Amino acid sequence: MRVRILGIGMGPRHLTPEAADALRGCDYAVAARKRGDDGLLALRRAVCEAHGVPLVAVPDPERDRDDPADYAAAVAAWHEARVAAYERVLGERGGTAAFLVWGDPGLYDSTLRIVERIAARGVVAVEYDVLPGVSAPQLLAARHRIVLHEVGRPVHVTPARLLGEAVAAGQDNIVVMLGGEAVLGGGLAFGELRDWTVWWGANLGTDTEELVAGRVGAAQPDIAARRRRARARAGWVMDVALLRRPV
Ligand SMILES: C[S@@+](CC[C@H](N)C(=O)[O-])C[C@H]1O[C@@H](n2cnc3c(N)ncnc32)[C@H](O)[C@@H]1O
Repeated sequence: MRVRILGIGMGPRHLTPEAADALRGCDYAVAARKRGDDGLLALRRAVCEAHGVPLVAVPDPERDRDDPADYAAAVAAWHEARVAAYERVLGERGGTAAFLVWGDPGLYDSTLRIVERIAARGVVAVEYDVLPGVSAPQLLAARHRIVLHEVGRPVHVTPARLLGEAVAAGQDNIVVMLGGEAVLGGGLAFGELRDWTVWWGANLGTDTEELVAGRVGAAQPDIAARRRRARARAGWVMDVALLRRPV
């Protein structure tokens, strides 16, 4: 069978003609169904409906978040459970399946690893390809009308939980993703980062988008308030920020 891993950007308005053509050529799409109100599943469903492709929602196995010390092991076990869940659906249905990936499949997304693993296990014979989508940092840069780095300089991309490490290592231009409440919701305003510049965005590309830019110390209350507002309006919040050390 064939799997097409399609980056859908930040929702229906970002689907490229290339990805839309690929989706229309699929027999069905699969997407994870998370616990609770899953706004992202609803967005994927809207994409599928717009292109006349049925969506098969696959219940997402629970991840053990109790032991952050063993983060890698918890994520590995969770990935293996997801592999088994998707393998079952693909094995039962066959044909050509689309995986709709939020943003771009090459940035903080496990779909490629899951499909690689399914292919390696050999229970279901799978061929796959990948089409790109607009990622959150790209949309952040566009909305704020900025380049992600100074001329000819690097940009470091990190999950929020490793932000402290990046700053300690001397990184001075950092995109923070997977931020969560603790960092982007409040933790930035303390210590060294207070005087950095931040360009922040939540729920980018959707009707509940929020943007803030400024000096971290001054902008943090506004970011926290808008973050809460995005969550209240959408039922979920995802945010990304660029942080730059003052010169
Ligand atoms: C699992 S990663 C997926 C990234 C995605 N593959 C991409 O290309 O942007 C989820 C993180 O991406 C960022 N993100 C995704 N969608 C976003 C959005 N609409 N607005 C702001 N940040 C977003 C947030 O940092 C979130 O915690």
